[in-house]
Amino acid sequence: MVSEFMLQQTPVNRVLPAWVEWMTTWPTPNALATATPADAIRLWANLGYPRRAVRLHRSAQIIATQFDNQVPQTFEQLIALPGVGEYTANAILAFAFDQPTFVMDINVRRVISRAWLGQAHPANSLSAVERAFAQSLVPKNPARAPLWAAASMELGALVCTAQNPQCTKCPIRKNCLWFTSGQPQNVGRPRTQAKYEGSDRQERGRILRELRSSDVALPIKQLRKSAKNEQQFDRALQSLIKEELIIDVPRGKVSLPES
Ligand code: ADE
Repeated sequence: MVSEFMLQQTPVNRVLPAWVEWMTTWPTPNALATATPADAIRLWANLGYPRRAVRLHRSAQIIATQFDNQVPQTFEQLIALPGVGEYTANAILAFAFDQPTFVMDINVRRVISRAWLGQAHPANSLSAVERAFAQSLVPKNPARAPLWAAASMELGALVCTAQNPQCTKCPIRKNCLWFTSGQPQNVGRPRTQAKYEGSDRQERGRILRELRSSDVALPIKQLRKSAKNEQQFDRALQSLIKEELIIDVPRGKVSLPES
């Protein structure tokens, strides 16, 4: 569950060391539940999209109190937890509990797009037709479905990558329509994340970094002074407060949520 939260928006190579540190610090839901949200945000460090840390912390508290410290094993119970959407619920069921669910992320979509449709990249948004097609590829034997989920995802994450795919290492290249038709680049474009440099996200990251490395609340004025753009600072600050990643404290200061 921890790795799936981290992998929602961060690549595997960056998640690995953070996951090890997280699991060493908080090996069970109970352990994480007794930490503060501020601890979770601090250890989330530079994985980005830190709302996930707060939601994972809240989920741990629910699991500790309502599920006897065991991650639940049904889709309905999982999806009711903070930060768990359809993808994450299915991924947990498949990878942690070997259940025959249908797991599709951008990596799996790219593998299917190339191998079966001969297109370099999937469409920007997932259509009902694409979904039904992907679902039809899942092995009918429920015992094989989790293996399919892991294999298709790993192939997409490590070999059939968006940029510079390693086709010579690919075990299915002879059956891949894209490879056998000469890797045409003309259809679709890889999805790219919005530019980080100069963005509100970057400013939010800067504010959080300052608060993470401080044991005490910091004056808003002081944080604003070191901002490149004051309007952007105000937008970033308000959004962090709204998402409960930081809290307003008396005398014009802000801090991480220490309780
Ligand atoms: N390999 C690459 N991304 C993954 C994910 N999100 N879950 C499990 N295995 C993965």
